Amino acid sequence: MKILGIESSCDETAAAIVEDGANILSNVVVSQIDIHSEYGGVIPEIAARSHIEAIQPVINKAFKDANLAIDDIDAIAVTHTPGLVGSLLVGTLAARTLAVVHNKPFYPTHHLKSHIYANWLSGYQPEFPLLAAVISGGHTQIIYMERHDHFEIIGTTRDDAIGECFDKVAKILGLPYPGGPSVANVAKNGNPDKYHLPIPHVDGLDFSFSGIKTAVLRAVQKELNLPITTPSHELKDHLSAEQIADFAASFQKTAVDILLKKLQTATETRKVKSILLAGGVSANQALRDELQKRFAKDYQVFYPAPQFSTDNGAMVASAAYYSIQAGDPYSDPYQLDISPRSTIY
Ligand code: KG4
Ligand code: ZN
Repeated sequence: MKILGIESSCDETAAAIVEDGANILSNVVVSQIDIHSEYGGVIPEIAARSHIEAIQPVINKAFKDANLAIDDIDAIAVTHTPGLVGSLLVGTLAARTLAVVHNKPFYPTHHLKSHIYANWLSGYQPEFPLLAAVISGGHTQIIYMERHDHFEIIGTTRDDAIGECFDKVAKILGLPYPGGPSVANVAKNGNPDKYHLPIPHVDGLDFSFSGIKTAVLRAVQKELNLPITTPSHELKDHLSAEQIADFAASFQKTAVDILLKKLQTATETRKVKSILLAGGVSANQALRDELQKRFAKDYQVFYPAPQFSTDNGAMVASAAYYSIQAGDPYSDPYQLDISPRSTIY
């Protein structure tokens, strides 16, 4: 079964054709990073306009790269929640139009579920039951899955998402957007034990990441002997490259530790065979290494190939394939609605 997957929930316009949930026939991603980096974050209005420009060429290229025509595909899948409203509208409208005009089965997918299915794209078949850490710019969740298409949120952030925290710390340190890769990059040269950042206590399997961002801010102010009233954007000019690297490394180590400690607790409440990382932050090498170190002897551990960690259309097609296999019905493209927020998979 060949599925066209379309993704436009944030700042990547993407389309891919995937066979049977894992065999990637094409994968096209146009990122808007260069456009938004000037502003230090995603500007929703600009993102929507950029998607409008990119969506048709991206879909055309996905067909061209796969050497296929629309008649060759069996279904169309698209991200319809969660994400930026204007961005979601562009991808869903393109997908609905194609489905109606070419009379194709239509399948809306949940963005975070798609991130989890990025793990199936590298030829792996993670065994159930499993825990998936969904760690992106907008979400931080621990999901328990007993089987395909069963998703139970057992832990979530009470404030910032982990990716958002990387992005905010990058801003304090004067590193370019998106913050995650920038922090990871300079952290390679830093001492992760240089600055002690407190780990917040949160009951159960929930997270809090806003405190650690503030802890970095206070630690930088203290290091520079500046008052706590000093605005965060004024700090970067006073930091040396060595201090930036040490702060980045210390923050990254703490963020990874917070996440993996909760995953450890989750394994004590649910008996699982596999542990998966999913979402943009799963690209973080320090996190991948530490996950291996702490969990690989007792569990099968998985993370997507780097190009499938961040937003892409292949994961959308894969998620749709496994949902269809699990018996989920197709949707009416005339009836589809988008939703910026969604906690239900
Ligand atoms: O999944 P994603 O592409 O978009 C959302 O659904 O949000 O995730 C983007 C997030 C951003 O916060 C970005 O800074 C973070 O993923 N990210 C990383 C890395 N690569 C991307 N965070 C830490 N380390 C990385 N290497
Ligand atoms: Zn995403």
